[in-house]
Amino acid sequence: MIIQPRTRGFICLTSHPEGCAENVKKQIEYVKSKGQINNGPKKVLVIGASTGFGLASRISAAFGSDAATIGVFFEKPGTAGRPGTAGWYNTAAFETEATKAGLYAKSINGDAFSDEIKKQTIELIKQDLGQVDLVVYSLASPRRTHPKTGVAYASVLKPIGEHFTNKTVDFHTGVVTNISIDPVKEQSDIDNTIAVMGGEDWKFWIEDLKAAGVLADGVKTVAYSYIGPELTYPIYRNGTIGMAKNDLEATVATINDLLKDKNGVSYVSVNKALVTQSSSAIPVVPLYISLLYKVMKEKGIHEGCIEQMQRLFAERLYATDAQLDSEGRIRVDDLEMREDVQAEVAKLWAEVTTENIESISDLAGYRKDFFNLFGFEFEGIDYNQESDELTQVESIK
Ligand code: NAD
Ligand code: NA
Repeated sequence: MIIQPRTRGFICLTSHPEGCAENVKKQIEYVKSKGQINNGPKKVLVIGASTGFGLASRISAAFGSDAATIGVFFEKPGTAGRPGTAGWYNTAAFETEATKAGLYAKSINGDAFSDEIKKQTIELIKQDLGQVDLVVYSLASPRRTHPKTGVAYASVLKPIGEHFTNKTVDFHTGVVTNISIDPVKEQSDIDNTIAVMGGEDWKFWIEDLKAAGVLADGVKTVAYSYIGPELTYPIYRNGTIGMAKNDLEATVATINDLLKDKNGVSYVSVNKALVTQSSSAIPVVPLYISLLYKVMKEKGIHEGCIEQMQRLFAERLYATDAQLDSEGRIRVDDLEMREDVQAEVAKLWAEVTTENIESISDLAGYRKDFFNLFGFEFEGIDYNQESDELTQVESIK
């Protein structure tokens, strides 16, 4: 079928298989161009492997360190006349390229929060790899069904305590408005968000993997967090999602205890703000990202997911010094948080309006990245050609 983008707000309802493949190939080329990662991972499990930081982690491990990878995700294949999700097509392309390069790659599609998918993953590790030496935890989800109690939790994106008013942009139209968000009314909104995006499921994964004997000696595990600038604190770091990130970060200590007898170590890496399916859903953040892109591109220090993850692996996780901050976190948001960068973004933030946004921000770059997530707006792809919506993930056939 011919597949064009169809959007509803910050969601794109269609994805382009060949475009997604192009996206994956570009990321692979980037990782290869950086050369081999010294003492990198060899057998890797990526939970949340199909898009964003998780996909970039999988590509960095495979093409930067010849790693065998198992990817877990929640995606939909296409059916006749109806395209599948971008993460499905990304994975199809990733597996094709990995196989061509002689690298093991298999994938599991299902609810990573469930005991069943954990069990399936462990069986696959036992059967094919024996053990894994790196576990990347990169889930982003609006809901989680608790595997022990069956309770279904939904996360919310709200401030805590005070009403929050700030600028936001509709990135399709460039219209800048003030958005006003009420704080949570109930503690349960905070608890539910922690239940979905906090550290419990990461801990459950590590407990189950350990109990099954599939963690190698010296195993590493990493999960991803975000801090960002003060202007987004009310909606991000001091909001409900921030409470979940605090919980995720606190889980490092628990997991380090679990991994002690394996000589293992766990980390949280604080990553840069980037356009992904998850971040486009957060109010205020897309406007911040548009201004941040402008400033970082001008300074020649802009990075996308793949640049971030390749650097995380080569210069932090597998370097002699992971360069932890005072809270024990890896910081690959170091360039975003540079004082000169933040000062310029703050200045632009005060100035930005509907009238000047196209010139003082990189809204165009934001939009392009958004459409690229779904395989659209790549040069060299003819979007008027028939496309194969039935493209399969080889290992899930
Ligand atoms: P993303 O939406 O691109 O990726 C989410 C992944 O989780 C996908 O592979 C998806 O299939 C998978 N997933 C979701 N629900 C699932 C389920 N129930 N079972 C199995 N798989 C499931 O998101 P992202 O932006 O790459 O986020 C990954 C992590 O990085 C999150 O912890 C996020 O908070 C963090 N982070 C994001 C940013 C940013 O700006 N995007 C910045 C710093 C940190
Ligand atoms: Na991800």
